[in-house]
Amino acid sequence: MAKPTPVDTPASSRAVGISYYTSEAVFRNGGSSAKHKKHRHNESAGLQQTIFRREWVCVAREEQVPNSGDYRTVDVAGQPIIVVRLESGAIHAMSAICLHRSMPIAEGCGNAATFQCPYHRWKYRLNGELISAPYMEGTDALQQQKTLPAV
Ligand code: FES
Repeated sequence: MAKPTPVDTPASSRAVGISYYTSEAVFRNGGSSAKHKKHRHNESAGLQQTIFRREWVCVAREEQVPNSGDYRTVDVAGQPIIVVRLESGAIHAMSAICLHRSMPIAEGCGNAATFQCPYHRWKYRLNGELISAPYMEGTDALQQQKTLPAV
């Protein structure tokens, strides 16, 4: 049997075309074609902005992080996120980007007592609180934001 060929929705249809589900341009900025502009909710924003950065997004199931320190990383609209089970049993979601020079501090999934950036070794508690920043003592870097942003 021949594999079906994707086709766009006829102009008379009220449904959106298949390209809305597969187009990177639609995802990023709503698309540039007249067809895409016709259905755009916001003139300057794509699905990434109008949906994934404004609405609740399911990033993990509770049973995926059953024990203290269990974590998994996900990407939500281009933002790397860590979902982690804290020592208290609560589940916490926060930015996975180091406060120093924006390196990801974790990838994939696993179990950790702390998160340590591989670049300059800044170390964070499971809740994102900065514990140490080698060679930064005496600078005002540690006086600024000390916790990875919760999401
Ligand atoms: S980028 Fe993370 S410690 Fe420098």
